[in-house]
Amino acid sequence: AQDKRESLYVLSNWAGKYFKEQLWETEAGKSIGLSYFKERGYREDIIQKFDLGYSPDQWEALSSAALKAGFQKEYLKEIGLCIEREDGNIYDRFRGRVIFPIHNLTGRIIGFGGRTLKTEKSVPKYVNSPESDIYHKSDVLYGLNFAKKSIMDNDTCYLVEGYADVLSMHQAGIENVVSSSGTSLTTGQIKLISRFTKNVVILYDGDAAGIKASLRGTDMLLEEGLNVKVLLFPDGDDPDSYVQKVGSTAFREYLDAHQEDFIFYKTNILLKDAGHDPIKRAEVIRDVVQSIALIPDEIKISVFIKQCSTLLDIEERVLLTELNKMKLDKA
Ligand code: CTP
Ligand code: MN
Ligand code: MN
Ligand code: MN
Ligand code: MN
Repeated sequence: AQDKRESLYVLSNWAGKYFKEQLWETEAGKSIGLSYFKERGYREDIIQKFDLGYSPDQWEALSSAALKAGFQKEYLKEIGLCIEREDGNIYDRFRGRVIFPIHNLTGRIIGFGGRTLKTEKSVPKYVNSPESDIYHKSDVLYGLNFAKKSIMDNDTCYLVEGYADVLSMHQAGIENVVSSSGTSLTTGQIKLISRFTKNVVILYDGDAAGIKASLRGTDMLLEEGLNVKVLLFPDGDDPDSYVQKVGSTAFREYLDAHQEDFIFYKTNILLKDAGHDPIKRAEVIRDVVQSIALIPDEIKISVFIKQCSTLLDIEERVLLTELNKMKLDKA
């Protein structure tokens, strides 16, 4: 089994090199893929560093090159680079897309995300490698191999939604950033982060989906004892588009000025929704206390209770009663 995994790593890294060569050394790669990255504002050193690539717009470009290089069809299927047809022939998963390789902590390539260059809504924007023996999505954070040192140095980790956000922030000199690749956070990913820091800042897209995601995935972070801050970008922007628009200095200033503790962020968002409706406000109070109850640190709990009592305009005593009730229910 170890041998097989090793073969999958080798194949995966070979494919990474293949896509990279296609990007830098073929006419189509240069005129379509490389110019796409450059139009998005990525510098060559960043494109190199992240091993970005291009997959030719053909059915069997990678498959035939891989078979010719001596790789087995079974393994190509296993890591999802190829898909088998009913007749037993295989075709490439990634076709005519720019490629974002996904690295593990030691920097080996374990999977790929491929972005379409088309604008039609009918085409999926990203195609991703499936789960395999070397790629367990729930235990991987995109960019962590490039970020881990900076996460420790800064004792903070920025959490973003997408590949492009990681790249653009690196380019702006902010390297302590990882992406959950559009899916909600898993406990495995959270444990991974907490090996390097206890401080997380969530930088989600400034759209309805981003707000929802920021409220959804966060309770797990609190339970793990992490300190969570949140920052939303102006409507329609994500970290990538925003930093490309305003430049790195203004971006850093925005980060420093707008990050807010998650508990207060959640309280304010929910309160705004509830307006003056007393029933809804009662729900907000319960919802917020529920999040606070997850925090494993009693001192932090009492600080939050105190400040939320002001925000919610309700006596601390009431919040504490509710909190203790919830803890009893949990125990
Ligand atoms: N994603 C995915 N499949 C999709 C859409 C999104 O896997 N069909 C994942 C990708 O990892 C993507 C992340 O979710 O990076 C965030 O999605 P989104 O914000 O829609 O994309 P961006 O990263 O902003 O992509 P881009 O800037 O290239 O449009
Ligand atoms: Mn496995
Ligand atoms: Mn989005
Ligand atoms: Mn984007
Ligand atoms: Mn986005």
